[in-house]
Amino acid sequence: MSSIDANRLTAETMIQTVRWVEETGSTNSDALAFSWINESQFPLLIGADRQTQGRGRGTNAWWSATGGLTFSLVIRPERFGIGIEHWPRISLAVGVAAAGTIDRLSRRPMARLKWPNDVYLEGRKVCGILVESAGQRLERLVIGIGLNVNNSLRDAPPELHSVMTSLAEITGETFDRTDVLVQLLQSLESELTALGNLQGSHEQLARFREYCLLTGRFVTVSDPSCDQTGLCLGIDDDGALSLQTEFGRTRCLSGTVRLVDLDPEEIR
Ligand code: BTN
Repeated sequence: MSSIDANRLTAETMIQTVRWVEETGSTNSDALAFSWINESQFPLLIGADRQTQGRGRGTNAWWSATGGLTFSLVIRPERFGIGIEHWPRISLAVGVAAAGTIDRLSRRPMARLKWPNDVYLEGRKVCGILVESAGQRLERLVIGIGLNVNNSLRDAPPELHSVMTSLAEITGETFDRTDVLVQLLQSLESELTALGNLQGSHEQLARFREYCLLTGRFVTVSDPSCDQTGLCLGIDDDGALSLQTEFGRTRCLSGTVRLVDLDPEEIR
């Protein structure tokens, strides 16, 4: 029996179709395989109580255990008024939705965003997001979200103990996962809609900048072609990360970020 109330998801959020299973490899891989289905079923949500091969950005893996939320959405960005030129901003919009939801749930303004969309609480990662485009169906996008809710990081591999956290660990509370999912999906709909209109997208960028963990910090951005180190100047209007390096100003459109002026108390 599913531990998530699928009826609530379709009644209280934008979701049209829910497929929730106890275990799968990766909900993003499943969602990519389902992305051909008729768009009348979109937004489609594919979720699992446990993933055995959760994927992250680049070479990252996503560790998850019972009590967490791992799910992927298949959406058509056009339905929210988001043109293809704004697709790079979708990652940021999802990050803002996740950070806002986490702040509301923890009842403290403490979430920080590590560009493009990792959410941190007290220096540890609580939520990871993986946005992928669905093969040849270029009008479709998969948004995968892993949020550590009630799972205890004591069960995680030792190397993750100091870098990951969960909502329960931070607040000392246990959450109803359907409630958390409903709030996250409602926030996601509102941020995607905001991105689809001009005024809303300016305000969303301002929210992202308020959450930004990296502005004013020294960082290394790695992508498959190179590593670049410099002072993070902030987020450009198109969502790119702006860096002042020894060779001048540069803009990063993708990549994995590492803080190099590491304060061990602030971020692990
Ligand atoms: C990252 O930290 O780099 C992103 C992690 C994204 C994890 C989520 S969990 C649900 C969905 N399915 C996956 O295989 N990955 C995403």
